[in-house]
Amino acid sequence: MNTGFDPVAQDFLNVALPKGRLGERVYAMLAQAGYPCPELLDPKRKLIFENPEAKVRYFWVKPSDVPAYVERGAADVGVAGKDILLEYAPSVYELLDLNIGKCRMCVAALEGFRDDPDRRLRVATEFPRIARSYYSAQSRDIDVVRLHGSIEIAPILGLTDVIVDIVETGTTLRENGLRPYETIVEISARLIANKVSYKFKHEAIQALFEGLREQVAQKEAAQ
Ligand code: PRP
Repeated sequence: MNTGFDPVAQDFLNVALPKGRLGERVYAMLAQAGYPCPELLDPKRKLIFENPEAKVRYFWVKPSDVPAYVERGAADVGVAGKDILLEYAPSVYELLDLNIGKCRMCVAALEGFRDDPDRRLRVATEFPRIARSYYSAQSRDIDVVRLHGSIEIAPILGLTDVIVDIVETGTTLRENGLRPYETIVEISARLIANKVSYKFKHEAIQALFEGLREQVAQKEAAQ
């Protein structure tokens, strides 16, 4: 199929956006920063868009896939949550905290849970690397059950003792009789860049970075 795009056109900046609400907020910041592409919000199923005047090309990708696109240079820059960056540890430059998509990575368990530090702790999570590194810093032996969604169910059904998951409002935990016990790390969305692109498309990346930094500063000033 001819998409009409030349993916190797060197003068375009390729930007990987995380599909979903966070990606739409990031796009709003990019549009304000001088990189609009209104077609992007069209609810059709197209995934690649470009604005030849702004010399920018956007791709919608699964949030956890953003690091792969950027690390391998299929995208020059992208936006990913700090959770995804800690979990996948891609070799990329982290340029800017966008100060949106704020939440925290927590250990949560059923209300009334009592930990027995002498027992191996069973942990359900979508973030095994984060969980392992958190508990290994405490020399705690854990058994990780890697799940892909609805993590909150694991302690309810006795699959694990605790979960390591993202908490934003806390509603999902509350609705399921769980509560956060420890915060592992605060999360927010980050602008990341491919290391080679950062050298060879430096001016274009720097301009986009400055535009976004300005947006972050304006939002902070308005708060
Ligand atoms: C995350 C997380 C929780 C929920 C927490 O899921 O896994 O289920 O958000 O949000 P709350 O504290 O505001 O209730 P997300 O919506 O990102 O989808 P996922 O389950 O597919 O990861």
